[in-house]
Amino acid sequence: MKIVVIQGPNLNMLGVREPQVYGLMRLEQIHAQMKDFAGQSGVEIEFYQSNLEGEIVDKIQECYGDADGVIINPAAYTHTSIAIRDAISAIGLPVIEVHISNIYRREEFRQKSMTAPVCTSSIIGFGPFGYHLAMMGMLQIFNEIQALQEAQTQTADA
Ligand code: DQA
Repeated sequence: MKIVVIQGPNLNMLGVREPQVYGLMRLEQIHAQMKDFAGQSGVEIEFYQSNLEGEIVDKIQECYGDADGVIINPAAYTHTSIAIRDAISAIGLPVIEVHISNIYRREEFRQKSMTAPVCTSSIIGFGPFGYHLAMMGMLQIFNEIQALQEAQTQTADA
């Protein structure tokens, strides 16, 4: 199984950027922890960060046929991007949206997510630990999909 982690604009500045909101961990540290966890769980993982909306759309599209699940923090594009929302819908994969901060406790313009309604689930406001929770969530989703497929095979065989 393969998970692709997609990070939106300014998340390359984590650790430096508003640490009181986003914490002190740098993106590389978050990814190193996710990589460790993926290794322990026997899952392949790939990381991608871009500050550009079109590049994020391209990367989401590339996941079709290549990945089994996507963990995405679309960052500021969460609140504006119909293109990213459509790309998430298009690939038909399990997608977990992560927000480091609790967007519902912040400015009004952050309280609406264009992308969450087309994601499988969302993890919001746990700080950088949210990425670890997303990994656990994705493994649970993989297990559920597998159990469902096995049950369907058994029904077809019966
Ligand atoms: C964010 C929340 C967004 O509103 C903001 O633009 C970000 C980060 C978060 O992880 O809390 O860049 O997605």
